[in-house]
Amino acid sequence: MEFIREYADWFYLIGAVLFILTLRGLSGPKTAIAGNRYGMIAMAIAVVTTFFVAENPVVWMILAAMAAGAVVGIARARTVPMTQMPETVALMHSLVGLAAVLIAVAAIIHNNKLVELGPDLLAANGVTFHEMSKVHLFELFVGCFVGAITFTASVFAYGKLAAKKWAKTISGGWVKPVQALIFIAMLAAGIHFFLTGSMTSFWAMTGLALAFGWVWIAPVGGGDMPVVVSLLNSFSGWAAAGIGFTLENNMLIVAGSLVGSSGAILSYIMCKAMNRSIINVLFGGAMGGAAAPTAATGAQVQRNYRSGSADDAGFLMSNADSVVIVPGYGMAQGRAQNAVKELANLLKEQGVTVRFAIHPVAGRMPGHMNVLLAEADVPYEDILEMDEINSDFPATDVVLVIGANDVVNPAAKDDPNSPIYGMPILEAHKARTIMVIKRSMATGYAGLDNDLFYNDKTMMIFGDAKKVVEDMTKAINGTGH
Ligand code: TAP
Repeated sequence: MEFIREYADWFYLIGAVLFILTLRGLSGPKTAIAGNRYGMIAMAIAVVTTFFVAENPVVWMILAAMAAGAVVGIARARTVPMTQMPETVALMHSLVGLAAVLIAVAAIIHNNKLVELGPDLLAANGVTFHEMSKVHLFELFVGCFVGAITFTASVFAYGKLAAKKWAKTISGGWVKPVQALIFIAMLAAGIHFFLTGSMTSFWAMTGLALAFGWVWIAPVGGGDMPVVVSLLNSFSGWAAAGIGFTLENNMLIVAGSLVGSSGAILSYIMCKAMNRSIINVLFGGAMGGAAAPTAATGAQVQRNYRSGSADDAGFLMSNADSVVIVPGYGMAQGRAQNAVKELANLLKEQGVTVRFAIHPVAGRMPGHMNVLLAEADVPYEDILEMDEINSDFPATDVVLVIGANDVVNPAAKDDPNSPIYGMPILEAHKARTIMVIKRSMATGYAGLDNDLFYNDKTMMIFGDAKKVVEDMTKAINGTGH
């Protein structure tokens, strides 16, 4: 064990490199499993090394905490459905935030205890004591308040995504002044603690940071929560990095910084794909001025559209040379991914080229469609990103839109007055024939009508995504009707 202690920095370095390889692996579906494995090995190295590096660890306490965490974590990982992944991730971030706060509190209480005992008594017992430096106080101050904000904001994000009654969106003219007031008071208390070391200020800062996390996120609309979760992921990383300085643990500093920066990059990519700024998401209220729209908000001026049956659609697709499937939130909502995979396989058996087109913000969480298609075992080479497939639409016989709406709305390209103008879209409107599966003419997340549905080339097939796709498969198999 002396060996681990002596070479701890080397083990941490190996762990850090493996964490970087993890991120590299997770950037593509083919390498994601290897990426996950690197992550597991890196985490095991980090935990074991830290265990042996720690001075006088209370072994039973650490083992009991690890065992409890492992039991809860394994049980949750085995049972959580894919649709509840965003809220689970939010809950996990809240724990990182809470850990940062507790470590800061423990470090300060520990330090104060040593001060109380006095240098003479400590020296008599062989304990060397260093007064906490200003840099140390600053790390604790930042780590603690970022952790506290992350904690309550993540708990709220969890509640919102899990549709809990207590996680209500707040709105009104009072919200912004209250946010500003709490933020300024929190900073003032933190600075006072930094300058004087006053414990009253420390507790005040922590309490205000907890309150701020809540009032900061509570006005954000439900549909914007995925961006918030990604941002909180970033925050939890920075909080961990801050605490890494406190604990003088290089591994925690590196891992925290990796989480912090990758979360920030992901938030940026999501905002860009939605044509919004992070400031607009966090302080601009819900998109379209309302919470995520529902079918009820989709009332529109009467316009003509063409509808058809699953049988007609099946016939048309089986006679096509190329079909591109555009999945969206409705595929996730209807849990249609396995049925979609069967349909794609059947078409392929009939000599049709079938590919999937994925928009970066289709669905409600990053990689939502990729995860569902991977779960259904759709081959990776059939799944193309927006930039790879957009130029192919004009030469595509049939585009089958399954529960997607905003990500194929041509207004993003044609209508400068549209709130989504400028958002990159999958150019499904350029295909020769367009088929759209959804339950009604209701709007999607952005609450906007979609010209694609009224296009002369479009056939609407109304119904639940899974049922319609299964009916299409039956029709192609000749077992329908
Ligand atoms: P949306 O624009 O939300 O449209 C989904 C459509 O699916 C709805 O119009 C709905 O119409 C239909 N639908 C729902 N349940 C269905 C079911 N069981 N069967 C068939 N159809 C069903 O989805 P999208 O095109 O995927 O776009 C995603 C939107 O979410 C974008 O605006 C994006 O900016 C936003 N967003 C995404 C993310 C991430 S990271 N992905 C994060 C935040 C926000 P009916 O009700 O008529 O069936």
